[in-house]
Amino acid sequence: MAGNKTLSNAKDAKNDEFYTQLEDIEKELKHYREHFNGKTVFCNCDDPYESNFFKYFAMNFNALGLKKLIATCYNGSPVQGNELLLQFDLDAPDELRKVAHKIEISEVKDANGDGAVDLKDVRYLLQNDKNVISILKGNGDFRSPECVELLKQADIVVTNPPFSLFREYVAQLVKYEKQFIILGNMNAITYKEIFPLIIKNQLWTGYGFNMSMVYKTPYKNNLEANKKYVLSKGYNPDENYIKVPAVNWYTNINTSKRAEEIILYKSYISEEYPKYETFDAIDVSSITDIPYDYYGIMGVPKTFLDKYNPDQFEIIGYEREDENIKIGIKNMPEDFLKKYREQGGRGHYTKGMKMLCFYDKDGNAKIPFSRILIKRKKL
Ligand SMILES: C[S@@+](CC[C@H](N)C(=O)[O-])C[C@H]1O[C@@H](n2cnc3c(N)ncnc32)[C@H](O)[C@@H]1O
Repeated sequence: MAGNKTLSNAKDAKNDEFYTQLEDIEKELKHYREHFNGKTVFCNCDDPYESNFFKYFAMNFNALGLKKLIATCYNGSPVQGNELLLQFDLDAPDELRKVAHKIEISEVKDANGDGAVDLKDVRYLLQNDKNVISILKGNGDFRSPECVELLKQADIVVTNPPFSLFREYVAQLVKYEKQFIILGNMNAITYKEIFPLIIKNQLWTGYGFNMSMVYKTPYKNNLEANKKYVLSKGYNPDENYIKVPAVNWYTNINTSKRAEEIILYKSYISEEYPKYETFDAIDVSSITDIPYDYYGIMGVPKTFLDKYNPDQFEIIGYEREDENIKIGIKNMPEDFLKKYREQGGRGHYTKGMKMLCFYDKDGNAKIPFSRILIKRKKL
């Protein structure tokens, strides 16, 4: 997939400069409004002068009833200091552009006296209140002691963290027991550091799931149909954008979506649901086909997580080579693999592999793609 390649390239090269657009932030965060009242929000991978996360919370500071907004800027960014000072339309003092800094806002008043409390007041505040902005001692790394101290003060962390550090980033949030709403790629679901959190109900997917997102970036524009496309979508044609598929919001804040049950309407008929050769479970290739009257283990596609309600289902495990041993998936039988190859089946499968596999109702040998193992909860 071209898009996944884009992300893994970003990871390899540590090209983490992908800037989230305001409308994408608004689309997700509108679902969590009541959670922000009286809370301290921390955007810890966010140059306040270019981050739309900072902009969103600064603009909505009073409407959300925030207690405090903190943003820290990392100075390891290859673009920091010279370029993207456009988002917030602020004149950052030169010395701040070159170093890691933080902004802490505890109040947004009608500072400029124009009768309205809005972004202009935030700008006025940043330009006139010396206590609001300060230079950090270190480089603004979210793991640095001073950023961890700020994290401890925070109730909710909201950002798009660097793709290359997603595992560590989440581990830190969990360690400090913070609430969070963050962006990450779809593959993160099956990281060995992430899926156990999903099983333990310490992390789940938000509203935006498997989205194709367009980020602003200092890297080469990859929007396929160039200017015409950019203009038709309302992007600034002088800026670079990167389109990345399969992006999810991840959170540990309860959402109404998570309380919705999947409506199950299919009855279990053994001929329609193949049993795995290597594990005591059935394969259900589409979420809509989950039978309402089957209480054994089922293998379902990863997209199940978009509909997962922990009161309706229990997650047993997920298919990953190292996990499969733990779960008890057995070796693929030699004759199965032979048949699979005879049918023209591809992939790096060998007979010692512990994988889910089955014969479909026509006797074809099938190896499903990356299943999650689930079980209905009894009413
Ligand atoms: C994917 S970008 C997102 C930027 C911003 N949060 C947004 O959504 O527009 C990730 C940001 O994290 C910064 N970053 C990279 N490594 C970091 C680290 N160790 N600590 C804090 N920020 C880091 C990068 O410079 C980059 O600006």
